[in-house]
Amino acid sequence: MCGIFGYVGSNRATPILINGLKALEYRGYDSAGIFVSDCGSVKAVGPVVNLESKIPQGMNGSTGIAHTRWATHGVPSEANAHPHHDKSESIWLVHNGIIENYNELKSEMQAKGINFYSETDTEVLAKLIGTYFDGDLKQAVLSALKQVRGTYGVAVMHDQDASQVVVARMGSPIVIGVGYDGNYISSDPSALLAYTKEVVYLEDGEVAVVTGSACEVESIKGDKIEKTTEIIDWDHTAIQKNGYAHFMLKEIFEAPKVIEDTIRGRVSANGSVKLGGVEAVLPKLKDLERLQIVGCGSAFYAGSVGKYMLKEYANLPVEVELASEYRYTKQIFDKNTALLAVTQSGETADTLASLRLGKEHKVLTLGVVNAVGSTIARETDAGVYNHAGPEIAVASTKAFISQLTVFALLTLLLGKERGVLNEKESRDIAESIVNLPKVLKSVLDESAFIEEVAKKYAKYDNMMLIGRKLHAPIASEGALKIKEVSYIHAEGYAGGELKHGPIALLHDGLPVIALLPQDDVYEKMYSNVEEVKARRAPVLAIANIGDEKIGKLADDVIFTPKTHPILQPIVTSVVLQLLSYYTGVGKGYDVDRPRNLAKSVTVE
Ligand code: G6P
Repeated sequence: MCGIFGYVGSNRATPILINGLKALEYRGYDSAGIFVSDCGSVKAVGPVVNLESKIPQGMNGSTGIAHTRWATHGVPSEANAHPHHDKSESIWLVHNGIIENYNELKSEMQAKGINFYSETDTEVLAKLIGTYFDGDLKQAVLSALKQVRGTYGVAVMHDQDASQVVVARMGSPIVIGVGYDGNYISSDPSALLAYTKEVVYLEDGEVAVVTGSACEVESIKGDKIEKTTEIIDWDHTAIQKNGYAHFMLKEIFEAPKVIEDTIRGRVSANGSVKLGGVEAVLPKLKDLERLQIVGCGSAFYAGSVGKYMLKEYANLPVEVELASEYRYTKQIFDKNTALLAVTQSGETADTLASLRLGKEHKVLTLGVVNAVGSTIARETDAGVYNHAGPEIAVASTKAFISQLTVFALLTLLLGKERGVLNEKESRDIAESIVNLPKVLKSVLDESAFIEEVAKKYAKYDNMMLIGRKLHAPIASEGALKIKEVSYIHAEGYAGGELKHGPIALLHDGLPVIALLPQDDVYEKMYSNVEEVKARRAPVLAIANIGDEKIGKLADDVIFTPKTHPILQPIVTSVVLQLLSYYTGVGKGYDVDRPRNLAKSVTVE
């Protein structure tokens, strides 16, 4: 979604801003713009290269702000693209988030003779700041922000003052990058990696004046705040393609390394497991009576697989809710319930709102979060980082399998703590976790075959995926992945649900991807595949190596190595990710940036 980048320093701002915007492209956007001191503003609809091609010679100013916009108020157009300016065209602003009372503020200003050129809520904020400006930009920003309701991450500058950019945050991230020859501003720390790893995270309700050599932070009420600089431990190469055709492919192929990073120092083959981020709350988790898991998109499906794991191996009652529904439906909070937010970005608006609702009701809040230092990571009481590194492709792949791995680790920990798993069972799970990177490596070795299979199935307009138990949500996640990157309509169902409706759809033009590893519901799944074949629907099975029986029934089979049932969904997921990738690429789509999608959905 929308991205902010800014620079104050001694270098030429324009190339830095364009690079920053390119690093933010992965989040999804439809237009972009920059404002540079002494030079003015340029905006363009479409990719950042469109903006780049419009940059005039001599745009040499040393301070600037830039934005990628994902339309919320008003169509993608140059008029609606940021930066926006005040009436005098001297104050310029980029904004992420939504100003909820923009209509009333706009009417008040219109009554005073201020005209508006765009349909955006952001222009209203720019104009409002202008009405308060009397030479002190920070004060004008503070006064204006006191009038607004909603969420914002903003960066504001004055065209006559290249020495500073004023930034503020309420519900939408702002990170300041501390550099040698200037300071940087971004809504996403990964975009800063090309310049610096030293960052200052702004909290909600904080305002900062960023100059080339300093960053002074205060609360919106005017109290000075001492901030500490933190170090981002991500490598710059993590946000480059490193020879792969797409980020999505690179991230799928990172699977073995991602799992190594997720489990490093946390588990050993003898069954011991340690999760530092939840250690302090372990006594509470041991006696927990109910866990609610919230998430959106792939994170929701990861939570759904986690539910099966925790119920079966840790005897923990678990509910999984879509974060977008959570706060609009009745929730029952009690002291023996904990709320766990699953999120790659740590910034998803609905997940954050669910978490805050839980906090209001004083339940223990936990996170399974990938983005270190993100809002959700900082607001939860305890949690486990994925350590999957930055995920750039919009469709989640490596973060998803690392979420499943974290759930396996949590299950092992709680299964032991709650006296459900005996020593042997714990050792079996732990050994399989430790062995997982090797298993995934052998799955990736089959990518050429999976590409061939993808070509065969890419011709269909619709697909169905079926699986049971832990593989039921994997069927849904696989369908989501296929939809996201190949625009083929796909739906995932629990195998047993087929005959309650979806079976009506089956015919020889609707392929079914059946997920049937050798687990305790294999026979049930096999019967489902027979039902499918009886309706002449083509079947692509994803089954374990050595399963000759399915080889005779299904039209095509992708064989995978067998692992512990708790980890088999991870193996199957990598196959489904490759299938989706090759299908999307085969159809000529930009799989890294699917249409209409945003990597991090920071508005409701
Ligand atoms: C968006 C992305 C999905 C992601 C979901 C949740 O819809 O396109 O890939 O699964 O948000 O994001 P989160 O960062 O909270 O995991």
